[in-house]
Amino acid sequence: MSPESSVTKLPDYREQSPKVKERFERFHKRPVVLEVKNLGRVFESSNGPVTALEDVNFNIKRREFNCVIGPSGCGKSTLIRILAGLDYPTSGQVLLDGKPVLGPGADRGMVFQGYTLFPWLTVKRNVMFGPMNAGESETESERNARFWIDMVGLSKFENAYPYQLSGGMKQRTAIARALANQPRILLMDEPFGALDAQTRFQMQTSLLEIWRNVEVTILFITHDLEEAVFLSDRILVLDAHPGRVNEMIESPVPRPRNDEQCVHPEFLATKQHIEHLIHPPESRSDTPLRITRMTDPDDTVF
Ligand SMILES: Nc1ncnc2c1ncn2[C@@H]1O[C@H](COP(=O)(O)OP(=O)(O)OP(=O)(O)O)[C@@H](O)[C@H]1O
Ligand SMILES: [Mg+2]
Repeated sequence: MSPESSVTKLPDYREQSPKVKERFERFHKRPVVLEVKNLGRVFESSNGPVTALEDVNFNIKRREFNCVIGPSGCGKSTLIRILAGLDYPTSGQVLLDGKPVLGPGADRGMVFQGYTLFPWLTVKRNVMFGPMNAGESETESERNARFWIDMVGLSKFENAYPYQLSGGMKQRTAIARALANQPRILLMDEPFGALDAQTRFQMQTSLLEIWRNVEVTILFITHDLEEAVFLSDRILVLDAHPGRVNEMIESPVPRPRNDEQCVHPEFLATKQHIEHLIHPPESRSDTPLRITRMTDPDDTVF
């Protein structure tokens, strides 16, 4: 963990803003959906054991929007894969609604960065796939699929195949497909990481709108500070090697969110605080690059 002295302290906005105080007072009364207890994951590799996660503890409240952020290799994907039941911990446990997670289940929806739609199925059939597999009738799953496709704004494309969709549309379909199973928690691993900045912002705004209207809790992994502050109620900051909890931050940014907030003091202070946690100021190198001049000294550019 970084030495505390090097990290800009985040002002307690609850003291400054009664609205933020009230929001978090209400928030803390919500029941816990997901509990992560003393979680550890050690991988065996040819170079010896790799501790991806060590003694990770946190919980997520009902209908919380939580982002996980941390440097590359700090175990974010390992964590979300364990929560999804696609990997297992070597110590500790995960409880969803008080019950241990022992494998994949329809109570957890996943959206990955890579496009994971079935390429041979249309948008509608992709969304119908999970519920039909779970035994829902074709008529019922078609009706529900239309509902979710409409919610993500893709009604005109329900009969399109994934290759006919843009990156953003593929991720909208992936969100509809995950929500069609009506999960308790939506687990998202850098879902907008491959999108251009403008599409990414549209997707973030749409996701917030969906989350406001649907009974679902979201755990969202990102390496983008701005995305984390824009989306979250709380932000879990992880350290790397081994992956450990550095801090759980309560975002002081009021809801509903909009792009103008990105320049507000509380937004910038939160962003800077996380930046300092991930890259403490004293760890940054001041050593200039050793560059050999290969141009005419008179031919100077600035
Ligand atoms: N199957 C595996 N076998 C061995 N080591 C692994 C395995 N999976 C992950 N690791 C190691 O565990 C650590 C955490 O990896 P992980 O992919 O969870 O990090 P991440 O935070 O998601 O990184 P990124 O931000 O680059 O996506 C890394 O050191 C990685 O090399
Ligand atoms: Mg990852």
